[in-house]
Amino acid sequence: MSEQGLFSPDLIAPTVAAALPEGYIARPLRLGDYDAGFLDCLRVLTTVGEITKEAFDEQYKWMSSQDTYYILVIEDTSTGKVVGTGNLLVERKFIHNLGLVGHIEDIAVAKDQQGKKLGLRLIQALDFIAEKVGCYKTILDCSEANEGFYLKCGFRRAGLEMAHYY
Ligand code: ACO
Repeated sequence: MSEQGLFSPDLIAPTVAAALPEGYIARPLRLGDYDAGFLDCLRVLTTVGEITKEAFDEQYKWMSSQDTYYILVIEDTSTGKVVGTGNLLVERKFIHNLGLVGHIEDIAVAKDQQGKKLGLRLIQALDFIAEKVGCYKTILDCSEANEGFYLKCGFRRAGLEMAHYY
């Protein structure tokens, strides 16, 4: 039996699962995704570094001990490879009556799989999880070049991102 993954598969939106192209599934990240191209998929987005299996396992286990990380993947079942991924990070706050805020992070679709609405399905799936776990809003940062994509996913410009790198 395959492992359940980082979060409950009950949080995968049935409408998203049904809308994926044939041969693709959306599911929680699994430990085994180290060998299924998860990190290569993320390399479409930015520098990942050389992460050993041991280091990956340790990070995964720490994340799975929290109720904060909802890392979703899209798998091409014909190859078993991860071709898309996205993370919903759920932040607990004191304001808004101990409100929860979703943060969409690290969205990536493999270069040769872009344009098949996999990115849209990732965002819809993460949005579903956010609503289901009780977030009152979900926010994200992106480049101007990706604004059009997020507008098509139902997001709108709000505020301004600032950064201080160390
Ligand atoms: N600008 C404007 N519109 C876009 C863009 C864009 N950059 N990318 C996609 N779209 C449109 C598509 O044309 C489509 O429109 P349609 O419904 O009219 O046909 C719609 O958005 C949905 O597109 P998808 O096919 O779902 O997009 P795709 O699967 O190619 O994924 C993504 C888009 C995730 C941006 C992908 O190109 C990618 O991985 N890029 C590199 C990594 C990256 O930039 N990730 C986002 C970082 S921001 C963050 O992580 C919070």
